[in-house]
Amino acid sequence: MVDKPFELIKKILTKHISEVLVEKLPDKWEKIGDVLIISLPKILNIYKEVIGITYANILDCKSVLNDIGGIIGEFRTPSVEIIYGTHNTETVHKENGVRYKLDPKRIMFSSGNMSERIRMSNISNNNETVVDLFAGIGYFTLPMAVHSKPKKIFACEKNPISYNYLCENITINNVTSIVEPLKGDSREVSPENVANRVIMGYIGDTNKFLRPAFRCLSNNTGIIHFHDKYPDEVVPDKPLKIIEKEAKKENLDIKLLKYNSVKSYAPGISHYVFDFEVK
Ligand SMILES: C[S@@+](CC[C@H](N)C(=O)[O-])C[C@H]1O[C@@H](n2cnc3c(N)ncnc32)[C@H](O)[C@@H]1O
Repeated sequence: MVDKPFELIKKILTKHISEVLVEKLPDKWEKIGDVLIISLPKILNIYKEVIGITYANILDCKSVLNDIGGIIGEFRTPSVEIIYGTHNTETVHKENGVRYKLDPKRIMFSSGNMSERIRMSNISNNNETVVDLFAGIGYFTLPMAVHSKPKKIFACEKNPISYNYLCENITINNVTSIVEPLKGDSREVSPENVANRVIMGYIGDTNKFLRPAFRCLSNNTGIIHFHDKYPDEVVPDKPLKIIEKEAKKENLDIKLLKYNSVKSYAPGISHYVFDFEVK
């Protein structure tokens, strides 16, 4: 029987490190294009070169990054070190018929959000105008433009590095006639009174952006996809109250259509998306 990749990695590394330490090797990874991200326990640090080359060979990657501090700050920047391969870590990740060009050393890409990217690819239609308030490199904008083909998507992004990839990705996916990239803080650059649908794909204080999201809606009507992380036991009541409170300030009514857990964030805490209708 052919060994599974992780079994093969362990078998090779047993020649270089003790059996006890082999058991501490990460059995999960993110493969973004041909760049691999793993998270090594500190105890394996002195072996990171041989570990990097082994993972790269077995999983067919040009570079291996070690996650040393998670995803940080407003721009959701990865904190990683290169442990193997070329320092040119720019790559093209293909998923669901969409090409995402990015540098995983500088820009995040969450494999855990794949189900939501796929859901967004089918949710719109050619009568809609959409505003994506946190477009990044086009995580939701691109699958929606490629597969749902709305009339227009206004894609706002504040991080200049992500914005440049967003622009490139719009071109390589042939959606220049659909997507209009807008560089800057979405509270300042998002268009008002145009949208049938607004995407709020951000984690942490997303409620602070509800007011601009409401203002994007055409005639105060439409659907909003609101993301944030919450303790599982407060969902959906607490986020719903927060959204209702913000809506009341603008004299708007909201109706929750559905909510999904996108992925686990920490024990007892998950990344959720709430779809709600504004009237
Ligand atoms: C990385 S995405 C979130 C992840 C995404 N939902 C996914 O599926 O992987 C969030 C993006 O919002 C951008 N951002 C943060 N604050 C912003 C703001 N005020 N206006 C526009 N973009 C902002 C960040 O630079 C980042 O690219």
